[in-house]
Amino acid sequence: MVYKKVKAALIVAGLAFCATGAVSASQGMTGASGAMLSHTCAGCHGTDGASVGPASPTIAGLSRDYFIEVMLGFASGDVPSTIMDRIALGYSEEEIEAMADFFVKKPFVPAKQEFDQSLVDLGASLHDRHCERCHADGGTFADDDAGVLAGQWSPYLRWTLADYRAEYREGPARMHREMREMLEREGEKSLEALISYYASQQ
Ligand code: HEC
Ligand code: HEC
Repeated sequence: MVYKKVKAALIVAGLAFCATGAVSASQGMTGASGAMLSHTCAGCHGTDGASVGPASPTIAGLSRDYFIEVMLGFASGDVPSTIMDRIALGYSEEEIEAMADFFVKKPFVPAKQEFDQSLVDLGASLHDRHCERCHADGGTFADDDAGVLAGQWSPYLRWTLADYRAEYREGPARMHREMREMLEREGEKSLEALISYYASQQ
């Protein structure tokens, strides 16, 4: 699919800067602090996990459980990824926990990005109807262990939603059902409406 190629191209640009660091820093380092380990993530995820986008998500201020689960999911292949599988495999579970402890305390900084104002109200009502029960407070709430949607980079959300829709990434059965129902009722523009709503929260 086209979006995979575009995503890969955007990420390769980032890789040139940070892949070497990620490998060397994760090898032979035992007992390294979360802060030390997190330096290797900054090239793509920004200082303290606040990504300057657009292909790498912001990873600050997520919940600890979500952070650990998604990192282990990348490593095992349960969560599909373009590069995080290789990166996650470079760390022990303890190192992943140490990084989680570091990043969850940092603020989630909403991305400064453009969005389609005419779709925001529709996105807000679709969110309330189909997503709010598990992505509370308009998708800002981290502690329901489902990531943070509000203020996340739109290209990242677009790719991630496409992965769920294609059932390439497996989410809760109820989430797949809500997405299917929404797409049947409202059509393709519903996804862009949600993305505009999340991007409008700055
Ligand atoms: C070369 C760029 C790059 C580097 C370096 C990198 N990441 Fe990522 N990260 C990504 C991309 C891109 C994604 C989206 C998944 C994918 O396609 O691989 C992602 C996704 C994630 C996610 C999931 C976020 C969510 O909301 O679900 C976490 C957590 C994460 N990275 C943590 C880290 C940590 C911790 C490090 C440092 C050890 C790191 N990443 C290094 C590019 C990078
Ligand atoms: C039944 C609860 C539930 C519902 C309803 C739900 N989600 Fe989720 N969602 C989750 C959980 C749990 C995760 C964590 C990751 C996983 O399980 O794949 C998640 C993850 C996500 C992610 C990935 C976050 C990231 O940082 O990568 C996106 C995007 C997402 N959901 C969007 C939506 C949208 C849009 C809706 C409404 C159409 C929705 N979800 C409805 C529970 C739900």
